[in-house]
Amino acid sequence: MDAIIDTPPAKTACEKSMSEQGQTIRLATRNLNFFYGRTQALFNININIPEKSVTALIGPSGCGKSTFLRCFNRMNDEIPGTRLQGTVLFDNQDLYVRGISLVDLRKRIGMVFQRANPFAMSIFDNVAYGPRIHGENNRYKIQEIVERSLVRAALWDEVKDNLKKSALDLSGGQQQRLCIARVLAVEPEVILMDEPCSALDPNSTFCIEELMQDLKKTYSIVIVTHNMQQAARVSDNTGFFLKGELIEIDKTEKIFQGPEDQRTEDYIRGRFG
Ligand SMILES: Nc1ncnc2c1ncn2[C@@H]1O[C@H](COP(=O)(O)OP(=O)(O)OP(=O)(O)O)[C@@H](O)[C@H]1O
Ligand SMILES: [Mg+2]
Repeated sequence: MDAIIDTPPAKTACEKSMSEQGQTIRLATRNLNFFYGRTQALFNININIPEKSVTALIGPSGCGKSTFLRCFNRMNDEIPGTRLQGTVLFDNQDLYVRGISLVDLRKRIGMVFQRANPFAMSIFDNVAYGPRIHGENNRYKIQEIVERSLVRAALWDEVKDNLKKSALDLSGGQQQRLCIARVLAVEPEVILMDEPCSALDPNSTFCIEELMQDLKKTYSIVIVTHNMQQAARVSDNTGFFLKGELIEIDKTEKIFQGPEDQRTEDYIRGRFG
């Protein structure tokens, strides 16, 4: 892979403040447009996602948040008739050059989906799946990874006596935490979370928010959420999407206390969406 040496676009306020703080940028997009067939879903998105931080993405339903998130691990590639224009960078490398290993990419950039999608296999095998396909075959090591991942995802106590049970027999909230454990098991560098708490009760939500604070010491996290309090609680930066455009992204306090754009203000005050 060749490093991308391009001229960055004019910096937004957020980009300036991030580079002033000397934070390394893990993920970025440059002039990103995305199409489902003839319908354009994302319009000219420029963003920088710094390391060791939580970036929250907010915006009304259908504004392109999930589409945008999926650009980072090339999950949209799986949808026929889609097209991406522009550049998506991970550690300044173009993610869309030919020859990239998607298996490796999706290990490094893990994703928790909006709808829990456990595999039709046991709880244990769901979590062990990733480490196994990446070559781990020591039974004891796998047991240790499975336990550690389930503990971190706040599910261990509920399932530890039933690890052989089918994952499909878990409740929706448990399935979501299992999917989080499955992502953690391969130790990704970036975690994309698409409304990870929408099916969780307050206690599990609290555990996952604690987990994010722990994970961001090492990783970058991008979370889509419809819950404003959650965005305000967990994130360092918040981006507001509307109709496929990134209207504004800035420090979370700034977005919630004095955003630049009136549309951001209206949204966070609950005036639409
Ligand atoms: N597989 C698909 N095929 C065609 N159009 C799609 C597909 N997925 C999403 N879209 C369209 O792209 C736009 C953005 O959808 P997306 O799911 O990214 O929004 P979102 O912000 O995540 O919404 P929500 O908050 O409801 O999850 C919508 O107009 C949607 O209809
Ligand atoms: Mg979505």
